[in-house]
Amino acid sequence: MADKARLAILISGTGTNMAALLYAARAADCPFELALVASNNPDAAGLKLAEAEGVPVFAQSHRGMTREDHDQLMHEALVLSGAHFVALAGYMRILTPGFVSKWQGRMVNIHPSLLPKYKGLHTHQRALDAGDNHGGCSVHLVTPELDDGPVLGQTQVAILPGDTADTLAARVLIAEHQLYSRCIARLVRGETTGSAEVSIGG
Ligand code: GAR
Repeated sequence: MADKARLAILISGTGTNMAALLYAARAADCPFELALVASNNPDAAGLKLAEAEGVPVFAQSHRGMTREDHDQLMHEALVLSGAHFVALAGYMRILTPGFVSKWQGRMVNIHPSLLPKYKGLHTHQRALDAGDNHGGCSVHLVTPELDDGPVLGQTQVAILPGDTADTLAARVLIAEHQLYSRCIARLVRGETTGSAEVSIGG
């Protein structure tokens, strides 16, 4: 098989999407391998898992730094790791336009809503409050605008009677773990067009 694309993952917290990508990358036919897991939170649980699984890690707190300086340090760590692509996986930072432009077309994000609905925070509660039948998740290319950029894939998740934001979030997370590696595989193979490919329901 041809050389695999090197993927770096940025996390801020638990890192379950990072873990899903890490284990997806173990498959022989997966077209990407993990180059780095990096975080703005040195205590992020996901860093410990990545380290235990033999993936290089990098942590740099953003506290006391300008956004530009922090993004620059993260960028240098990404370049040093030899990353070709970057996946944001619960990376709860607003990115500077300069950082975004350096990875344009090669940086993706996963967001827990059916974009363009519910950008930002509290996506599940907003879907419940609106009386939606479905929540879901989206993978999109990162552009300077928050949770914007061409959608690469979406999965709808049914909202059940009695759902709370927490129960819905837990089911959407299962869908996230399936969707993310598929979208990244298509991107690194050059198969993606940036128009939405909805995996369920459309
Ligand atoms: C995921 O649900 C992800 O979609 C969301 O944070 C969670 C991280 O969980 N991201 C955003 O809201 C970004 N706008 P994880 O750390 O277990 O992967």
